[in-house]
Amino acid sequence: MALNISKDILYAGVEDRDIDLFEGQYPVPDGITYNSYIIRDEQTAVIDGVDKHFTYEWMENIEELLDGKSPDYIVVHHMEPDHSASLEVFLRLYPEAKIVASAQAVKMAQNLFNKDISSRAVIVKEGDTLCLGTHTLRFIGAPMVHWPEVLVSFEESEKILFSADAFGKFGTFTDREDWACEAARYYFGIVGKFGAQVQALLKKVAALPVETICPLHGPVLREEIADCVALYNTWSSYAAERNGVVIAYASVYGATKALAEELARILGRKGQDHIELFDLARDDVTEALEGAFRSSKLVLASPTINGDVFPAVKAYIDALAAHNYQKRFVAFAESGMWAPCSAKRMAELLGGCKELEFAQSSVKMLGCPDEAVSAQLDKLAEEIVSRN
Ligand code: FEO
Repeated sequence: MALNISKDILYAGVEDRDIDLFEGQYPVPDGITYNSYIIRDEQTAVIDGVDKHFTYEWMENIEELLDGKSPDYIVVHHMEPDHSASLEVFLRLYPEAKIVASAQAVKMAQNLFNKDISSRAVIVKEGDTLCLGTHTLRFIGAPMVHWPEVLVSFEESEKILFSADAFGKFGTFTDREDWACEAARYYFGIVGKFGAQVQALLKKVAALPVETICPLHGPVLREEIADCVALYNTWSSYAAERNGVVIAYASVYGATKALAEELARILGRKGQDHIELFDLARDDVTEALEGAFRSSKLVLASPTINGDVFPAVKAYIDALAAHNYQKRFVAFAESGMWAPCSAKRMAELLGGCKELEFAQSSVKMLGCPDEAVSAQLDKLAEEIVSRN
């Protein structure tokens, strides 16, 4: 597939439409791309590799785009195997090519391939450049966005940022998803824990006259760069993108589901926008995670099981905490027929999260959503809509 960036910068990546779970956990119904690029100049550089299942297709792309010429360099911005597992074959087929990467990436490559590649390594760090002729790559450190060895690079003549996983998105080139939707699910699931490191990278990028962003997944960005950077700034500072409510629940016999749905109806009647409901035992939890980070308010509703939280709700709260969930308004609804205690446990599970504000009101249901529960739901909804 050829989606050239310019006369001299060519697309050599692949689309993966067969994968079900990206990184073993993120459903990708529209697939994903592993982006690789080629800079043709006096010297030729291939920028990053692809997942090992697409090695053959990638090598064919390189051969075709270079018309049989051997590349001088493979630039490795990120060593995670979705980009690097194919490099072993590349290095074998192009024995003269040098690998340009951070010192840590070279160590990782040696471990991954169980091979000493030090004689072929050109180790680069923040501020170093690779001159190919009229094109020059300037390297910028991006540690923990989202691995420690990550570099991004800025091609000075065409003002292109090769951004590694930053600004990546689930989906292939033919899906019609809006960038923000699947870019947000990608960001919060994979990069979101490292907001401070993303902020540091954004500050460096702000000083550059970037006209094109070439990420390792998803589309090349041009006109939309300002909007995408603004969203990344919001996401990485853990600010809410919108006044919205995520209601995340699990239900044993349907009563907690009915309670959650009734709360959504009441919130809608009271004028709350952006209400999302997730059945945590059935829905894509990575969507529920994205929703909680994009919206300002979260309601957790759980039956009491074994004196604790329903397992799927517990796993969701663990995922929120692991991804640095913070700066949000959180409310609880609990159910149980003799000693409901899941609200207290949910609050405890969120205890390590910074700057959460818990609602004054809560909902306790001992059987079904009766009049007393309706009154509690109404009071809780009132408190929720009064918050941004
Ligand atoms: Fe796309 Fe972190 O690998």
